[in-house]
Amino acid sequence: MKRLLSIFVSLILIFGLLGCYQPVSEDYLDSSLSIEERIENLLGQMTLDEKVGQMVQGDQSKVTAAQMKRLGLGSILSGGGSIPNNDNSISSWVGAVEKYQQAAMSRRLKIPFIYGIDAVHGHNTVTGAVIFPHNIGIGAANDPELTEQMGAYVAQELKLTKTIFNFAPCVAVGQDLRWGRTYESYSSDPDIVTNLALSFMKGQQKEGILNSLKHYVGDGGTEYGTGRDGMIDRGDVVLEEQELREVHLKPYIELIENGARCVMASFNSYKGLKMHQHKYLITDILKGELGFDGFVISDWEGILEINKNTYDEKIIEGINAGLDMLMEPYSYEEAIKAIKRGVKSGAISKERINDAVSRILRVKFELGLFEDPYLQNIEVDISELGSAQGRELAKQLVQKSQVLLKNNNNVLPFKSGQKIFVTGPAADDLGVQCGGWTINWSGFTGYPLTKGTTILQGLKNIAGKHNLTIITDENNADEADVVLLVIGEQPYAEFTGDTPDPSIVGDKALSGNLDAIDFAKSLNKPIVTLIVAGRNVLIVDYIDDWDAVVMSYLPGSEGEGVASVLAGEVGFSGKLPMPYYKTVNDIKSDNPQLLFNIGDGLTTQTTSSN
Ligand code: BGC
Ligand code: BGC
Repeated sequence: MKRLLSIFVSLILIFGLLGCYQPVSEDYLDSSLSIEERIENLLGQMTLDEKVGQMVQGDQSKVTAAQMKRLGLGSILSGGGSIPNNDNSISSWVGAVEKYQQAAMSRRLKIPFIYGIDAVHGHNTVTGAVIFPHNIGIGAANDPELTEQMGAYVAQELKLTKTIFNFAPCVAVGQDLRWGRTYESYSSDPDIVTNLALSFMKGQQKEGILNSLKHYVGDGGTEYGTGRDGMIDRGDVVLEEQELREVHLKPYIELIENGARCVMASFNSYKGLKMHQHKYLITDILKGELGFDGFVISDWEGILEINKNTYDEKIIEGINAGLDMLMEPYSYEEAIKAIKRGVKSGAISKERINDAVSRILRVKFELGLFEDPYLQNIEVDISELGSAQGRELAKQLVQKSQVLLKNNNNVLPFKSGQKIFVTGPAADDLGVQCGGWTINWSGFTGYPLTKGTTILQGLKNIAGKHNLTIITDENNADEADVVLLVIGEQPYAEFTGDTPDPSIVGDKALSGNLDAIDFAKSLNKPIVTLIVAGRNVLIVDYIDDWDAVVMSYLPGSEGEGVASVLAGEVGFSGKLPMPYYKTVNDIKSDNPQLLFNIGDGLTTQTTSSN
């Protein structure tokens, strides 16, 4: 009896020490309490391990459910192309989220995790999702109402996969088209960026999505030559603070006032100091002056950008600068250990940890995750990805995003009875028209990895009703009345799109462009050139040979949207969201030579009915 009692007592002691048997006050689960009361109650019961777990995010490809159960990570993401079990079906995504949530909920305090992804032009990692135009095209359309609808629709597709944390909108104010992320920027004008990002976020928020604004701050304003590999992405911003505020901080100010709850730090630096360690801009300005009380997340291994010698020092520096959650896709466990060592050595204060965790918990409480961790009660109006309603919305945005720059003799829209010879490497390639961040990180080309309509297919679909004949065989090109030359850029993402030569025959251009340009010219017929690109690629050497020029940007999966404007089903209305330079030397010059100005874009009337 005595022996049994002592075994019993030591078992209780052991469990007590392991933290498995600590009494838990479940007040924080009481949704009638205020969020601040719930945070206080929960935080007061959390061990250091539990707190630090909340501060770290790993990539799904490297986190098992068992690791989630052991570490209690605050979040998990899918980076570009990170697809659960390489099975890109809705059930695979839902299964992954549920598996992690079960693991998180099996822990002592039952704190739900949150799954994050980049749905930057639609729910673009998932096969069959509607792929919308990239932001630069949305900037050309500049239609806040449709952009809000886009936000709401993308939210529907996100919710179908039980994902409510979106690393979007990108609020970069792109100033230099040599930057590979130019297409992620709505415009070079901070007001357009602010307006459209706000519309997108509102649409998402109404549907219960948590948006992460990115990349804080100055990502669109880096100096060429200061970035990765001597290029521009992840480079340095040298603007005076007032200009930094007026141009690059502006969207943050307005979106935070309108309830943005997460901000992603940028890979770039400001005046030599990496943003991931920029205490003044993160803690003093963002959290202090702007009163931001959501959480700041680091970018993908952004911790490594910090200018310190050891991993521990980088982590300490980043947390002390104000990072609350660390996107450490692969090194999440290292990150946890490093934060704990930082706390134990006194390099990171307990107050800083409590502040970071409070911010993360605040957002989770606000989202209602504690009440509905498996998102069983969220409303989803669609039952499949790529719904007809979503494709129709994307098509409208595509139509509005087409910018007509030149139109001699009103060669556009095409006229009933015309024969059109379609040529060029961007005419019939879904991957090219979708660009980067489509299924995988830098996109795809050659064969379709997702569903959609190419520009050529779109033309063929509507040719009959507009009495147009589409010719694609070079041997019959002579019969044509007009040549449609469709050229563009390769898909790319981030620094892989940086280039010293952003021309239509430069190193990011499609390799077939030049041949197609030459062949089109050799036909001695009116040429309509359609440019499928993530930026205003330089065309000054060729434009005189072309009768009409349309900047199509990266329209996404709905190629019929492009076709319908060419055919006059809808008039042209898009406007350049960034200036169109003549040469590379005009970029950021005080006295640039412009081919076209920001805001330019000819309009045409609708000429034929549906
Ligand atoms: C990009 C971010 C993105 C993150 C997660 C980073 O490389 O800079 O824009 O949200 O990856 O995929
Ligand atoms: C991630 C990006 C990252 C890139 C380069 C991709 O898989 O999604 O966020 O920047 O890899 O390492």
